[in-house]
Amino acid sequence: MNKILLFVLVVGLLTVQGCKKEKRLTIAVGGAPSEVEYLERLIGEFEKETGIHVVLRRQPTDTDQRRQELVIALKARERDPDLFLMDVIWVPQFAASGWLEPLDDYARESGVELSSFFRGVVENVDRYDGKLIALPLYVDGGLLYYRKDLLEKFGFSPPSTWDELVRQARKIQKEVRKKNPSFYGFVWQGAQYEGLVCNFLEFAASMGGGLTDSLGRLTIDRPENIRALQFMRDLINRYRISPPNTYTEMREEEVRLFFQRGDALFERNWPYAWKLHQADDSPVRGKVGMSLLPSSTGGRHVSTLGGWHVGISRFADRKKEAWELLKFLVSKEIQKRLLFDLGWNPGRRDVYGDPEVLKEVPQAAVLQSIFEKAIPRPVLPFYTRISEILQKYLNSALSGDMEPDDALKSAQKEAEVVFSLYEKR
Ligand code: GLC
Repeated sequence: MNKILLFVLVVGLLTVQGCKKEKRLTIAVGGAPSEVEYLERLIGEFEKETGIHVVLRRQPTDTDQRRQELVIALKARERDPDLFLMDVIWVPQFAASGWLEPLDDYARESGVELSSFFRGVVENVDRYDGKLIALPLYVDGGLLYYRKDLLEKFGFSPPSTWDELVRQARKIQKEVRKKNPSFYGFVWQGAQYEGLVCNFLEFAASMGGGLTDSLGRLTIDRPENIRALQFMRDLINRYRISPPNTYTEMREEEVRLFFQRGDALFERNWPYAWKLHQADDSPVRGKVGMSLLPSSTGGRHVSTLGGWHVGISRFADRKKEAWELLKFLVSKEIQKRLLFDLGWNPGRRDVYGDPEVLKEVPQAAVLQSIFEKAIPRPVLPFYTRISEILQKYLNSALSGDMEPDDALKSAQKEAEVVFSLYEKR
């Protein structure tokens, strides 16, 4: 009997050991479907090069849903995923919760030069309490895409102010609708999610507003912001150049596909849309131009700073291998390929001056200056709580349920409560 028990135990142990060996490195990755497929292929190359087996856990496109999925796993201290992509705005929360593995030793031991990355990005986002806890996979900023062919046909140059954009859109929309009744002047992200906050911040800052003052105090209900929100609503209801489903459905991919079908003159989106608009099967291939977002008369042209960072879970059971994959993803060679193939803009400065990049992506220098001047959303561990409040009230104003000033006053009040609760902790 004892012998049998021993046999069972030994077999059991061997099986567990076997499973351990079999265990694969897991990375959580989301984005547009074509981006996820590309990363899958890239990670396949990493597997071949290193012999490390990787499981890619697919996440949705929407940043809020992606965060929720990860938060559930991390709160439960699950070993998978070992590493993941994080939106720039979640990094402080993940770091403050103690979910990210410090990377300084790994970086030092493998000779990764932090000075090759944008200093501001590494210092403000990827370092927490003095420790390196992530590295940038790519940086993002909002851009204006326009139909070059249509602007030329009607004798316009790309708009520099919002007034110009409205004027051009109304005129061209009226003409094009004679043949295409689904055509709209301007598509942007207005659904109730993080992208709405990014769009609002751009409209607001271009009109002299913003979410905080120079001391970091919340200024959600300032007059410039109310004006910006009124303008966003006017785009839909008064000028009627943005579709009514702007506030129910329009996220990055819905907006991109709308424009790519040939149904819009202007589009606000992130740099990733460029490559997809130029794809072989894109109806707008060769007809698209890209510029800074307009400003209000005499105001600033601004973009919200976005981007995605890679971090390793504190609970990961394959940290060494996770670092190997992280290092691979942020290496100069892979960052160049991500720029060429996906239009993802590196968080590494050294890529922008590279001769091959200057030749292949002539707009890289302009993009670099956009990211360097882009406005960050408040860097707070509880930012997502503030953002949820903003999303709800901004969306209520767009849908007509609330007036812009009431909506922003209520948002300010609720956000102040959250702010003081967390500040006291
Ligand atoms: C993009 C940006 C990210 C932002 C998100 C909003 O993915 O990189 O920072 O939060 O869009 O939808």
